[in-house]
Amino acid sequence: MSNEDSDFEDKIQDAIANPQNMGEMADADSVGTVGNPECGDMVRLWLKFDEKDGKKVIDKASFQSFGCQTAIAVASMATEMLKGKTVDEAKELDSSDLSKPLGSLPPMKIHCGEMVEGALREALKGDSDVSEAPGETSQSPGNTLLGDMNQPALKKGKLKVVKLEE
Ligand code: FES
Repeated sequence: MSNEDSDFEDKIQDAIANPQNMGEMADADSVGTVGNPECGDMVRLWLKFDEKDGKKVIDKASFQSFGCQTAIAVASMATEMLKGKTVDEAKELDSSDLSKPLGSLPPMKIHCGEMVEGALREALKGDSDVSEAPGETSQSPGNTLLGDMNQPALKKGKLKVVKLEE
């Protein structure tokens, strides 16, 4: 094992020894679930929003992962990273941003980070920075399989994750 690999493994072990924000969030405003048909792993991400200066911000995030250690480590870091971000800021984050504390993911593990990104995109679907008046609902523009396929992350052609029914 190269130094780089063992360094990566150490970071993963540290992260999963004390995962942050793991578990279902009972009062969540939104949830996103994706799975990877190739490895059979799955990540679910819950978000709770708050309002700050007229903008919708992520108050807290939590996750559950039925998956590999890398997916758990990235999801744990992502939920910490998301706190206090506006919805638009969160939409800018891709899998390499979310997994940055681990360094770059080895090729075999890239899809693990992408799965967390996919769950975040599902949870943010239809949300915007502008907070809605109570009673208003946001309409997701891509609520069909085709719409899902046209999401920016999926357009890159490397995100092999699928939305799962909740
Ligand atoms: Fe599939 Fe990590 S091996 S999510």
